[in-house]
Order: sequence, then C-alpha cells, then structure tokens
Amino acid sequence: MAKRIITTEVTEEDRRIENSLRPKLLCEYIGQEKTKENLRIYIEAAKSRNESLDHVLFYGPPGLGKTTLASIIANEMDVNLKVTSGPAIEKPGEMAAILNSLQDGDLLFVDEIHRLNRQVEEVLYPAMEDYAIDIVIGKGPTARSVRLDLPKFTLVGATTRAGMLSAPLRDRFGVVNRLEFYNQRELEEIILRSAHVLNVEIEPEGAVEMAKRSRGTPRLANRLLKRVRDFAQVQYDGVITKQVACEALDRLEVDKMGLDRVDRELLLTMIHQFQGGPVGLETLAAAIGEDSGTIEDVYEPYLIQNGLIQRTPRGRVAASQAYHHFGIAMPEKN
Ligand code: ADE
Repeated sequence: MAKRIITTEVTEEDRRIENSLRPKLLCEYIGQEKTKENLRIYIEAAKSRNESLDHVLFYGPPGLGKTTLASIIANEMDVNLKVTSGPAIEKPGEMAAILNSLQDGDLLFVDEIHRLNRQVEEVLYPAMEDYAIDIVIGKGPTARSVRLDLPKFTLVGATTRAGMLSAPLRDRFGVVNRLEFYNQRELEEIILRSAHVLNVEIEPEGAVEMAKRSRGTPRLANRLLKRVRDFAQVQYDGVITKQVACEALDRLEVDKMGLDRVDRELLLTMIHQFQGGPVGLETLAAAIGEDSGTIEDVYEPYLIQNGLIQRTPRGRVAASQAYHHFGIAMPEKN
C-alpha cells in the first residue's frame, strides 16, 4: 500500500483553503523575484501592444506556485483561464476541442504537461506556432487535411520534470521559468499573510519556526499553518506562538529541517541498508515502498538542494550532512 503521511495528505478542505490563500495579482505574490519581474515586463508589453502573451513554461518541484502564477497571469492580462492537465487529455480530438473553445487572448493552463501523449502533443505544435490545428476529414485515400484557425491564445505549461518534455514542445515556449525553493524570509512573509487571510493570530517567532520547517515550499507552509492553527485552538488560546508551533510540528513529525517521515525513512534506509549508497533510485523506492517518480519529483529536490543527498552516475549517495542531521557517525570509505 502506498505510504500516506500527515503532511502530504491532501483533503478537499486543504484544496479549498489552498485556493483561498492563493494571491490573485503579481503585487500580492511573495518570492520568485526574477520570474515575477520578467512576467511583469512581458505582461505589460503584451498588453500595450494589445497582443496575447507568448506561451509560458513553469518548471520545478511541486508546491512552488506554478498554478498560482498561471492564474495571476490570467488576472493581470484580464483574460479567461481554462485549466487542464496532461493525464486528463487522452485523445488529439479532446485537445482540439479545448483549443477550439478558447477566445482571443485566453489562457490555457496545462498542468503536468510532460504527461501529454505524443499524438495530443502534436496537436499543440501548429496550435502554439501558427494558432491553427490540422483536422483530417474522411478516411483512406479520400482523406484530406483541413486547417482550422484558432484564437490567439496563451498556453501556460507546468511540469515538475523539464527534462521529460520533448524538444519540439519545449522549443515552442517563448518564456521558460524555473521556480526555486523559497527562502526563510519569504516563507515567513507567506505564513504571516496566510494567517491574516485565515484570521489566525500568530506571533512572528511562531512564523519563523513554521518557515524553518516548510521545506522551502509555500504549499506545505500553508498546510502546516492550518494544522498548527487547529492545535493552537484546541490545546491553547488560539495564538500561534513559537512554543505552540514547535509542539504542533513535533507532533506532526516534521523535524527541525522540515523533513517528514518519508524523508527520514529515505535517508535512514540509504544510511543503514545501503551503507550510504550509491544506491539506484528504483532499488531505494522498492526498499521504502514509495513510487520512484514521487521520490524524484517530491522528495529528492529539497534533499539535494540542502546537501543531504547527492545524485551520482552510480546512484544516490547520502551526504555527510545527512549523517550529521541524524547524529550518526559517517563510516570511513576506503
Ligand atoms: N500563498 C502561496 N504561495 C504564495 C506566495 N508565493 N505569495 C503569497 N502567498 C502565497
């Protein structure tokens, strides 16, 4: 059975709250300064020319704001937003129908765009380049291709794996942005903003503690906030102080670095079962009963960025920081 842990479990309520916390405009959006600044310029330029925005690709680990930025672009451009995802579109005709339903300037957001199948992807090439789709009418020797013009739409694609995007698709995006993990100060600001939106009282030290343990990820920061709020309400007087945050996060098994149970299991399995590695991704995934794609997309990026894991040609290696984090002596390698 797939492992489910409290910090990654997503309920309908989580989704509703996540949506309510999403900033609507660029000026409300905290962090990703470079991306934000670039978008501001491209949006202003496109608007002043009365044109649609060029196609935009966002890539990076989950929870860093790809969907939020797509809806902000739609708001800033004052156009409709249509949302779909790679796995949701199975046939070329479905993609053609979606494209055909758009109006001039509309924004089509395709999440997990790396999961579009080849035939569906091929509909996108002329659509992105020439705002047209080629439809085959009839069958056999009398079949002919008819070109159908589309409105001047903007495609915003999001992926956790830029490397899995085919070159022809990647090359058709005029704007490509890599989203980065958020720093401590940005996360504090996001937590304070979210607490304000949710009408939760929080002391700055409480926000500091929560930011430290949010894995550089606003989505996680906001989920933790919701759970810490419950804890503050039931066990205390409703105010999130440093002590309340610490106790609640300990109880949620989120440690001082923001690592959760799966992160720790991953690292400790590497250390104890594979002598620190190198160990192949699939072997590691089987050992802890997780999906290898989830490890690669969700868990590893933060562990690599923070120097706990190294990716080598022979497999994953637990770095000295990982030993240090658990207070385990690093074995001598000869
Ligand atoms: N909520 C989630 N992400 C956010 C961000 N980047 N800025 C402000 N609020 C957010």
